[in-house]
Amino acid sequence: MNRRELADGLIRARERTLALVDFDDDELHRQYHPLMSPLVWDLAHIGQQEELWLLRGGDLEVPGLLAPNVENLYDAFEHSRASRVDLPLMSPKQAHSYLNTVRDRAFDALDALHDEDPGFVFGLVVSHENQHGETMLQALNLRAGAPILDAGARLPQGRPDVAGSDVVVPGGPFVLGVDAKGEPYSLDNERPAHVVDVPAFRIGRVPVTNREWRQFIDDGGYRERRWWSDRGWAHRNETELVAPQFWNPDGTRTRFGHVETIPDGEPVQHVTYFEAEAYAAWAGARLPTEVEWEKACAWDPHTQRRRRFPWGDTAPDATRANLGGTARRPAEVGAYPDGASAYGVEQMLGDVWEWTSSALRPWPGFTPMIYERYTQPFFDGDYRVLRGGSWAVSADILRPSFRNWDHPIRRQIFSGLRLAWDI
Ligand SMILES: [Fe+2]
Repeated sequence: MNRRELADGLIRARERTLALVDFDDDELHRQYHPLMSPLVWDLAHIGQQEELWLLRGGDLEVPGLLAPNVENLYDAFEHSRASRVDLPLMSPKQAHSYLNTVRDRAFDALDALHDEDPGFVFGLVVSHENQHGETMLQALNLRAGAPILDAGARLPQGRPDVAGSDVVVPGGPFVLGVDAKGEPYSLDNERPAHVVDVPAFRIGRVPVTNREWRQFIDDGGYRERRWWSDRGWAHRNETELVAPQFWNPDGTRTRFGHVETIPDGEPVQHVTYFEAEAYAAWAGARLPTEVEWEKACAWDPHTQRRRRFPWGDTAPDATRANLGGTARRPAEVGAYPDGASAYGVEQMLGDVWEWTSSALRPWPGFTPMIYERYTQPFFDGDYRVLRGGSWAVSADILRPSFRNWDHPIRRQIFSGLRLAWDI
């Protein structure tokens, strides 16, 4: 990205944020769910992080625009999401004014960037703001009551017959991860690029659909111990899981407050890792490892090099992937034949985050970036990696190497799955 593209990325991220906080003050201070922050917290936190990385070199000791006791309210490590509603947060008006001041100075800093400097921190800030956009959508999806967001933009039609089909990925080495040279805005956990040998495997051409998931339910999948891991079964019992989150007993689902028929052909979303694992066992399959996932997504066996995107090197657009958040839902499987990877795997970017069987670990040679606590504190935790981004992820920040992670019990995230098999 050049300076203009970075500026455009900052502008697009802000437009998206503002569209998600276009509500009255009471609404912005509400806590929709203990797992989520009130929207006004996200708003000011976006400004605080932008100020920290772009204007203060990441050093909290450098005096900032906020008093230290106010700034501390927006430290994500200091205050759990559940507790943020009780903090003396800035008002929406104060937060907007703070964001505008920071943004004016951020543009000055961007203008002052040397021509040869790719401006990694600007990419980091674009990524951060967009990631909060997705978190805010998760919060809004948990909001009870009449909808305050529309039901989403039109999407291309799917090809229902591709559900349940798979492709073979032959064994052999490929380049896992990326370097700053090829992907200057890649985050620390995506680096460095290194060669990994992967045995042959089969992988689902498309994610698992709602129709397929219903077969699992109808076949007693949630009641049969044998499909579940020990931890998964304990969690299933404790929380009385019987269907994906937001599925209603009458066969409808609730999405951003809209109650609707569950579309058969859409990838299932809002399932935990434990449910995904049980479904895969029931289906006679398993979840892919994240290494398998990345090979199926990015490797081109003919040229023996990585593609920047599954379909090639051109940036995502609406004919290749469902990204950006305006759809408010995944597209039906088969909706993006032009987005297929070299192996013919479809819908790897966008639609739903896909659970993998991998725990979050550093690639060999991992070095933390300026935001040292972005990834490092999570390597030894109980986190599973999700790949590919959801419909709520901005096209400005997604790459095949992008890694997301969460606790295996989480499902307010836009999470689904794709199956894999040994050969
Ligand atoms: Fe954050």
